[in-house]
Amino acid sequence: MNRQGFAVLGCSLFVFCFAGMATGAEEACITCHRTISPGQVADWDFSRHSAEDVTCSVCHGEEHTDAQDFREAILPDEHVCAQCHEEQFSSFVRGKHNFGWSTLNALPVTHVEPDELMEGGRGCGGCHNMGVKSDAQKKEQRDKGYRYQNNSCDECHTRHSFAKKEAQDPRACQQCHMGYDHPQWEMWSSAKHGTRWFVKQGGRLPENAQAPICQECHLPDGTHENRTAWGFLGVRLPLPEDKQWAADRVTILKALGVLNPETGEPTARLEVVKSLDMVRLTEEAWLTERNKMIKTCAKCHSENYAREQLAYGDSMMQKADRLMAEAIEIVAGLYKEGIIQRPENYAFAYPDLLYFMRTGGGNMARMSHIDQVLLEMYMKHRMRTYQAFFHVNPDYAYWYGWAMMTKDLGEIKELAHTMRAAARMEK
Ligand code: HEC
Ligand code: HEC
Ligand code: HEC
Ligand code: HEC
Ligand code: HEC
Ligand code: HEC
Ligand code: HEC
Ligand code: HEC
Repeated sequence: MNRQGFAVLGCSLFVFCFAGMATGAEEACITCHRTISPGQVADWDFSRHSAEDVTCSVCHGEEHTDAQDFREAILPDEHVCAQCHEEQFSSFVRGKHNFGWSTLNALPVTHVEPDELMEGGRGCGGCHNMGVKSDAQKKEQRDKGYRYQNNSCDECHTRHSFAKKEAQDPRACQQCHMGYDHPQWEMWSSAKHGTRWFVKQGGRLPENAQAPICQECHLPDGTHENRTAWGFLGVRLPLPEDKQWAADRVTILKALGVLNPETGEPTARLEVVKSLDMVRLTEEAWLTERNKMIKTCAKCHSENYAREQLAYGDSMMQKADRLMAEAIEIVAGLYKEGIIQRPENYAFAYPDLLYFMRTGGGNMARMSHIDQVLLEMYMKHRMRTYQAFFHVNPDYAYWYGWAMMTKDLGEIKELAHTMRAAARMEK
C-alpha cells in the first residue's frame, strides 16, 4: 500500500490523521525520546515502520507532548495494527492464539493467584497475553490499575523493531512454548529437526538444507492462524471406539470438571471449553488439522512415514490415558471415602485438575499432596509423553514422560495406602 492509501485509511479510521500532522510534533517525539529512551528509538530507526513513515504518533497519538503528560499517550491495541495489516490481523483472530487471555481467565486457579502473575505480565499473564481483548477485559485490567499489555502482535515481532525476520526465527516462540507443561522448545531443539537447524545456523549445512522449524509446521505460508489436532489438553470428542480408552477419557474429562463425576452429564464448564476452542468437537475437525500437518511432513518425508509417526503419538496417548485414569480413580476413591474432604470451591468431591497446584481449591491451608502428585502426572508427565512423540524427542517421551507417569502412579498407590491406614488409626 502506498502512503496515499494510508493517509485515507488513517483519516477515515483513526482518531488522528498522521499524514496531515505537523512534522514538528513528530520530530519532538523522536528528539525527546532519543534522550529519555534511546534504545527504543534505535529499534524503531532500523524498522520498516521508520522507512515507511509510520512514526511514534501513528501508534501512540499526539495528545502527550511533554514529560508530564505521558499518561495521555495511547497504548495501541491490535486494532491499530489491523488498520494497515488487516490480513495478518484477521488470520490471527481465527487461530488459537486469539484465545490465550480468555482461556487464562476461564480457569478457576487464575482468580486465586496473585494479580502480578496475570495482569502484571509475568507468570501466566506473560504468556497468555495473546488475543484481542474485549472492552470488558480491558476495563477489568484498568480497574485493577494495570495499564500495559494491550497488544499481542508484539509477542513474536517485538516492539519497536516489529521485524518479520525476528518472528520467523523459532526462538520467537521459545519464551512461551517451553518449560513445565509444554516444553516444545526443549523437545524440538534437542531432537533432529532442531539440531539440524542449529547446525545450519552455524554455517555447517548449506542454505537449502532442510530443517523444519516451529513456524513451518504451525504457521505455514505466512498464516497467523494456529491450531493442532489434539491441542494442549489431549482430549477430544466424540469418544474413541476402543471401550477402555473411551472409559479412560471419560475419567479424565471428569477430573477436568467438564463431566459431572456423579452422573456423567456435561457441566457448565464444557460449554466454556467449547467456546474457547480447547478441544476438537468432531472427528472431522480433528482430521482437518491432522491432514494439514501430514501435508507439511510430506514436503520432506514420505506420506506413509509421516502418518505412521503421528499414529505412534496417538497410541502413546491412549496408553498414557490408561495410567492417568487409574491414578484419578485412586484419588477419587479417597474423596468418596471421606479421607480427602471436598475443598470449599470444588464443585464435586472429586479431583479438579484445573486448580493446578492449588489443590485446596485456593485454600493454602488445606492442600492435598496426593492431588498434587496427580496434577504433576497430568500437567507435566502426560503432556511430555505425547508431545514428545509429536516433536520426535526420544528422551522426553520416555524418561521425562512415560517413566515419570509410572513413578507417579506408584507414588499415588503408596500414598493412598498410607492415608487409608492413617484414617483407620484415627477411628
Ligand atoms: C519533552 C519530552 C517528550 C516528548 C516531546 C514526548 N515524550 Fe513521550 N514520554 C516522555 C517521558 C518523560 C515519558 C515517561 C517516561 C518514563 O516513564 O520514564 C514518556 C512516555 C511516553 C510513552 C509511554 C506512556 C506510558 O504510559 O508509559 C509513550 C507511548 C510516549 N511517550 C510516546 C510519545 C509520542 C508518540 C510523542 C510525540 C507525540 C512523545 N512521546 C513526545 C517524554 C516525551
Ligand atoms: C507500529 C506501532 C508503534 C510505533 C510506530 C511506535 N510504538 Fe511505541 N508501542 C507500541 C506498542 C504496541 C506498545 C506496547 C503497548 C502496551 O503494552 O499496551 C508500545 C509501547 C511504548 C512505550 C511504553 C512501553 C515501553 O517499552 O517503554 C513507549 C515509551 C513507546 N512505545 C514509545 C514509542 C516511541 C518513542 C516511538 C517512536 C520512536 C514509538 N513508541 C513508536 C507500538 C508502537
Ligand atoms: C499506518 C500504517 C501502519 C500501522 C498502524 C502499522 N504498520 Fe506495520 N507496517 C506498515 C508498513 C507500510 C510496513 C512495510 C510494508 C509491509 O510489510 O506491509 C509495515 C511492516 C510491518 C511488519 C513487517 C516488517 C518487516 O520486517 O518486513 C510488521 C511485522 C509490522 N508492520 C507489524 C505491525 C504491528 C505489530 C503494528 C501495530 C502495533 C503495526 N505494524 C502497525 C504500516 C503500518
Ligand atoms: C511459559 C508460558 C506460560 C505460562 C507461564 C502459562 N501458560 Fe498456559 N499455555 C502456554 C502455552 C504455550 C500453551 C499452549 C501449549 C500447548 O498447546 O501445548 C498454554 C495452554 C494453556 C491452556 C490450554 C488452552 C487450550 O486451549 O488448550 C490453559 C487453560 C492454560 N494454558 C492456563 C494457564 C494458567 C491458568 C497459567 C498460570 C497458572 C498458565 N497457563 C501459565 C503458556 C504458558
Ligand atoms: C505467534 C507469532 C506471531 C504473532 C503473535 C504475530 N505474528 Fe506477524 N508474523 C509472524 C511470522 C512467523 C511472520 C512471517 C511470516 C512469513 O514467513 O511470511 C509474520 C509476519 C508478519 C508481517 C509481515 C508480512 C509480510 O509478509 O511482509 C506482518 C505485517 C505481521 N506479521 C503483522 C502481525 C500483526 C498485525 C499481528 C497481530 C494481530 C501479528 N503479526 C502477530 C508471527 C507472528
Ligand atoms: C516437523 C513439524 C513440527 C515442528 C518443527 C514443530 N512442531 Fe509442534 N507439533 C507438531 C505436530 C505433528 C504436533 C501434534 C499435532 C496433532 O495433534 O496431531 C505438534 C503439536 C504442537 C503443539 C500442541 C501441543 C503438543 O505439543 O502436542 C504446540 C503448542 C506446538 N506443537 C508448538 C511447537 C513449537 C513452539 C515448536 C518449535 C519449538 C514446534 N511445535 C515445532 C509438529 C511440529
Ligand atoms: C507470548 C507467548 C507466546 C508466544 C511468543 C507464542 N505462543 Fe503459541 N501459544 C501461546 C499460548 C498462551 C497458547 C494457548 C492459547 C489458548 O489459550 O488456546 C498458544 C498456542 C499455540 C498453538 C496451538 C496449540 C493447540 O492447542 O492446538 C500453537 C501451534 C502455537 N501456539 C505455536 C506457536 C508458534 C509456532 C510460535 C512462534 C512463532 C508461538 N506459538 C509463539 C503463547 C505463545
Ligand atoms: C523441512 C523438512 C522436514 C519436514 C517438514 C519434516 N521433517 Fe522430519 N526430518 C527432516 C530431516 C532432515 C530429518 C533428519 C534426517 C534423519 O534423521 O536422517 C528428520 C527426521 C525425522 C525423524 C527422525 C528420523 C530418524 O531416523 O531418527 C522423524 C520421526 C521425523 N523427522 C518425523 C517428521 C514428522 C512426523 C513430520 C511432520 C510433522 C516431519 N518430520 C516434518 C526433515 C523434515
